[in-house]
Amino acid sequence: MQPEDVAGDLTKVLHTEAEIQARIAELCRRIEADDAAALDEQPLLLVGVLKGAVMVMADLARELRIPVEMDWMAVSSYGSSTRSSGVVRILKDLDTELAGRRVLIVEDIIDSGLTLSWLVENLRSRGPRSVEVCALLRKPEAQRIAVDVTYCGFDIPDEFVIGYGLDYAERYRNLRAVGVLARHVYEHEETDAVELDEQEDGGVPAGEG
Ligand code: IMP
Ligand code: MG
Repeated sequence: MQPEDVAGDLTKVLHTEAEIQARIAELCRRIEADDAAALDEQPLLLVGVLKGAVMVMADLARELRIPVEMDWMAVSSYGSSTRSSGVVRILKDLDTELAGRRVLIVEDIIDSGLTLSWLVENLRSRGPRSVEVCALLRKPEAQRIAVDVTYCGFDIPDEFVIGYGLDYAERYRNLRAVGVLARHVYEHEETDAVELDEQEDGGVPAGEG
């Protein structure tokens, strides 16, 4: 899906498909160089965080010119509490043992950073050789906890964005670009589509991956 297919729902396109692909290629060249320097017999393990990271995982993995393994986790940061509570539930765990492995967490976006910060600690506790983070997008103004991101695609403003894996109410994940969602899309749907405990202070929707 292209931005023109949902033109009325976007206030602007932040990053086009071409920009995203070019940036992913740059990140991959760095990942390849770091992989060579690690002198590891075992391949790098990419851990994608469902569902938002599906697109970046697919493109990043195919752009990489080194052997990798891919595994997936699903987590929810919005249990019974308010958004950004830092309470994380594992909905689907890894199939892979992490002992001695080099792990690269692949994420769509770092908003508050709470989910990822918890995830990094959780994976570190399993005895890997290293745990690093690659995130396509980061909202520096929204971040509440420091997360060391080795490979970051783009810093973006603190606005609700959709596309390239990111959803609003499960829609727009298949948009090829990343854009800012127009307020009218969620304001009139707020009571039906968004649980109260999934709303930010400003009434902006939040998601579970
Ligand atoms: P956190 O606040 O950094 O813990 O973000 C948790 C998750 O919320 C992210 O992995 C995304 O799946 C989702 N999220 C955060 N900001 C946005 C956004 O602007 N659009 C869509 N999903 C978002
Ligand atoms: Mg996510």
